[in-house]
Amino acid sequence: MVERLRVLIGWASLWRPGWSLACLTSIRLLSTCLLPTRLAPTGRLPACLVPTCLVLAVALVLPACAPSGLVAEAARGQQPPVVTPRAAPAPTGPASVPSIWVPLAADGVHDPRGPGITQLQQPGDALAVLPPDTAGNMVRWMDALDSGAITPRSSILPGTEVRVREDDIIISKFGSMPAVKFPHRQHTLWLDCSNCHPAPFKDKIGANRFSMMAILNGEQCGLCHGAVSFPLTECNRCHSVPNESLRRQQAASRP
Ligand code: HEC
Ligand code: HEC
Ligand code: HEC
Repeated sequence: MVERLRVLIGWASLWRPGWSLACLTSIRLLSTCLLPTRLAPTGRLPACLVPTCLVLAVALVLPACAPSGLVAEAARGQQPPVVTPRAAPAPTGPASVPSIWVPLAADGVHDPRGPGITQLQQPGDALAVLPPDTAGNMVRWMDALDSGAITPRSSILPGTEVRVREDDIIISKFGSMPAVKFPHRQHTLWLDCSNCHPAPFKDKIGANRFSMMAILNGEQCGLCHGAVSFPLTECNRCHSVPNESLRRQQAASRP
């Protein structure tokens, strides 16, 4: 039950990341006092529901107080991309190209009065030619790499050993979601083994305890997904293997 609640709240925090701090607090409150009461009913239920409801109420009344700190971690990259109105072209880009990317002068990072602003390439100009995506920064980066639309250098220093690993790893609890397929090849085309091993992941199947809550909080897969790689709202890109097909495979491989 609590597991399902966690997941439900995980979704809620995706939909409105500001909730996650309040939600996490309520889960903690609920799981520390609700579970024991269920095992041995003692009438402690109201005592723990009050702080929980308070926390949730505060989250509802003050949505503006987020995101910061831990909440910002979960919020990273999960906001829908800012869509500039079709009618408003980028100030320095070709006027005919409507942009779904924020122009540099408006991105809050670049100084709109600086001399460089007219020299720099606009994200819209650079990204519009790449395979489109419907989420994140609107580029399907794996397709861009595989199709040769981009050919990034695999190392800067001479003599760096570039290692690619081909196996796929299925991470499955046989829970409510299709199982997760982690592909090594796609990751090692961008990353070095040492980006993931020994931390955040031990390089041994089953040695890590994955959790969607941790991922939503920017740990584990969430260190990158939702930050620099496709956002966590794209559930089925990770949860891509139907549990039924796995069960059949397992049954078939048993002697
Ligand atoms: C970056 C990859 C990734 C994305 C995107 C992702 N998940 Fe997960 N999810 C995982 C991993 C890894 C686990 C742990 C799998 C396990 O242990 O079975 C997990 C576990 C879960 C679980 C618990 C196990 C289960 O099957 O009940 C649920 C529920 C879940 N995710 C829901 C979601 C939902 C809903 C979304 C989209 C809003 C989502 N996930 C997006 C990687 C991801
Ligand atoms: C983006 C992160 C990431 C990168 C980069 C990465 N791995 Fe992994 N690796 C994982 C994950 C996740 C697992 C699954 C661990 C589990 O099941 O608990 C894994 C598992 C493994 C395993 C165990 C496989 C088995 O069959 O027992 C080995 C060995 C391994 N990785 C080696 C490597 C090597 C070598 C590289 C570089 C060529 C590499 N990994 C790059 C994330 C990564
Ligand atoms: C160190 C950073 C990092 C971590 C950690 C990481 N990924 Fe990724 N992942 C990437 C990058 C970079 C890409 C390629 C860009 C993209 O698709 O957004 C990617 C792509 C993927 C893809 C898409 C492959 C394709 O063919 O389109 C899947 C699926 C995926 N990751 C699952 C996972 C899961 C599951 C985990 C956790 C077990 C995980 N990743 C952890 C960086 C990471």
